[in-house]
Amino acid sequence: MKTSCFPKYRLGRVLGLLQIVLGALVIIVSVSSLYRFYSAGFFMHNGDICKQFYGVKDIYEGFDVMALSARVDQVLEKMLSLQETLESTVEQLEKNKDLAKTNISMLDYKNFIQQQVIQPLYTAHITLRQIRVPRIENGTTKEDPLINDFVTEEIRKYITPKETRVGKKNIYGIEKIYNTIGHGCVSMKKELEEYMDYDIGSFCKDDWNIAQNLMIKGCDPLPRRRCLTRASKLFQKPYPINESLWKIPDGRNVRWSHYSCRNFDCLSSKNPKRGYSKCTGCFEIEKEKLKWVINTTILTDFLIEDVLRVKPGEIRVGLDFGIGTGTFAARMREHNVTIVSTALNLGAPFNEMIALRGLIPLYVTLNQRLPFFDNTMDLIHTTGFMDGWIDLQLMDFILFDWDRVLRPGGLLWVDRFFCSRKDLDDYMYMFLQFRYKKHKWAISSKSKDEVFLSALLEKPPRSL
Ligand SMILES: *[C@@H]1O[C@H](CO)[C@@H](O)[C@H](O)[C@H]1NC(C)=O
Ligand SMILES: *[C@@H]1O[C@H](CO)[C@@H](O)[C@H](O)[C@H]1NC(C)=O
Ligand SMILES: *[C@@H]1O[C@H](CO)[C@@H](O)[C@H](O)[C@H]1NC(C)=O
Ligand SMILES: *[C@@H]1O[C@H](CO)[C@@H](O)[C@H](O)[C@H]1NC(C)=O
Ligand SMILES: *[C@@H]1O[C@H](CO)[C@@H](O)[C@H](O)[C@H]1NC(C)=O
Repeated sequence: MKTSCFPKYRLGRVLGLLQIVLGALVIIVSVSSLYRFYSAGFFMHNGDICKQFYGVKDIYEGFDVMALSARVDQVLEKMLSLQETLESTVEQLEKNKDLAKTNISMLDYKNFIQQQVIQPLYTAHITLRQIRVPRIENGTTKEDPLINDFVTEEIRKYITPKETRVGKKNIYGIEKIYNTIGHGCVSMKKELEEYMDYDIGSFCKDDWNIAQNLMIKGCDPLPRRRCLTRASKLFQKPYPINESLWKIPDGRNVRWSHYSCRNFDCLSSKNPKRGYSKCTGCFEIEKEKLKWVINTTILTDFLIEDVLRVKPGEIRVGLDFGIGTGTFAARMREHNVTIVSTALNLGAPFNEMIALRGLIPLYVTLNQRLPFFDNTMDLIHTTGFMDGWIDLQLMDFILFDWDRVLRPGGLLWVDRFFCSRKDLDDYMYMFLQFRYKKHKWAISSKSKDEVFLSALLEKPPRSL
C-alpha cells in the first residue's frame, strides 16, 4: 500500500517544486550570461555595443560572442522544453486525479524522473559548465578554435588541445596536440552529434555510411571515436598473396548492411541495381584483367608496359587517384611497383575489396591535401574520378597538390579524363600549365559531345 500511495501524492508536489527550481535556474542563467557580458566589458565601450549585437563584429577581443550566445540559447531552450514537459504532465495528473485510482508504480515514477527530468537537467548543466569565457588579457585572448561550436561532450573533448603530462614539450617540440576536424563539421552539427553519440568503450553503431557522408560533405577530418568498430560476423582469413591479387574476395569479410548488394556477385555490371555507377567492369576479375595490358583500338588507352618503359626501373612508388578495386595497383605490383589506391565506399565496398586483394586502400576524399610529403611519389595515375563535372578552381588546387607530391622526373598519367568537347580547352590548359614534358598525349571521341583525354607527363626538375 505504502508504495502505491507515496508516489501518487508526492509526484505532483515534486513536479511543482521542480518547476520552481527550473524557473529559478532560467533566471540564474539569464542573469549570469548578462553578468558575463558585463564582466567582459561589453557595456563599458558604449559605442561598440550595437556592433556587437548586430553582427558587425562577432569576435570581441577574441571572444566569440556568437558562439556564447548560441550556447546560452541552447540551455534556455532545453530548460523551456523541460518545463513544458513537466507542466503538461502535471496537467494530465490533475485531470486524472479522481478519474482513476490508478497507482503509478515506483518503477514508472523512477523512469519518469530519470528520463524526463534528470537527463535534460544534466545536459543543460553540462552545457552551462562548458561555456567558457576566455580570460581577456591585454586585448589578446586565446580561445581554441571551434570548441564553442559544439555541445556534445565527446566532440569537445576530442578537439580540446591535449597538453603533455609533464608540462614539457612533446616529441614535436610543442606543448599541445591539436586533434583537428574539418570546418565543414560546424554546418553538420546534428549529424556529427549523432555520429559522436556512443558509450565510451562500447560497440559503435554500424554507421560507416554516416561517417562517410560527413566526410564527403566537408567534415573531414572526422573526429576519432572511442568505441569498438563492428566487423563482419564471419570474418575469414584473407587468401594468400599469390592468389588474392586476382580473386574476388570472400564476401563474408565485408559488412554489407548499407549497400544495395549483399555479396560480390551482385556487384557485376550486368546488374542495374548494383548501387554504384562509376567504374565499369569493377568487381569482375575477367574484365579487370584486361585493363592496361591488352592493346585496344582506343587511342587514349595506354599500356602499363609502355608507360614504365619511359622510366625503366625508376618507377617504384605511386598513387592511383580514382575509383576502382585496385586493379591498377595489382598490375603495378607485378612490376614491383607499390601503388596506394584512393577509395571511397560509394555504393560498394571498394576499400575492403582493395585490402582483401592485398593492396593498400587510402580512404580520402577530394577535400584534403594528400597525406604525402613534397617530391616523394614516382607516379600519379588518375582515372574515372576527376572528370568534366569538376569545378575548375577545385581541380587547380588538386593538380597543384599532385605537383607538390610528385618528385622531379616523376610521371603524371592522366588516364581517360573525360569532359564535354567544348570544355576541352579549359581542361587541357589545366594539365599543361605545369609545363611538364609530354611523353604521350591523346584525345579520342567518347560520344558526339564528349571526349577522352589521356596524357603521360613528366615533372621537370625544379632546382631553385
Ligand atoms: C494499485 O493499488 C492497489 C491498492 O491500492 C493494489 O491492489 C494494486 O495491486 C495496485 N496496482 C498496481 C498495478 O500496482
Ligand atoms: C599586459 O601587458 C603588459 C605589457 O605588455 C604586461 O607586462 C602584463 O603582464 C600583461 N598583463 C597580462 C595580464 O598578461
Ligand atoms: C600460393 O602459395 C601457397 C603457399 O606458398 C601454395 O600452397 C599455393 O599452392 C599457392 N597458390 C597458387 C595458386 O600458386
Ligand atoms: C600492342 O601493339 C603494339 C603495336 O601495334 C605492339 O608492338 C605490342 O606488342 C602490342 N602489345 C600487346 C601487349 O599486344
Ligand atoms: C620483381 O621482383 C622480383 C624479385 O626481386 C623479380 O624476380 C622479378 O623479376 C621482378 N619483376 C619485374 C617485372 O621486374
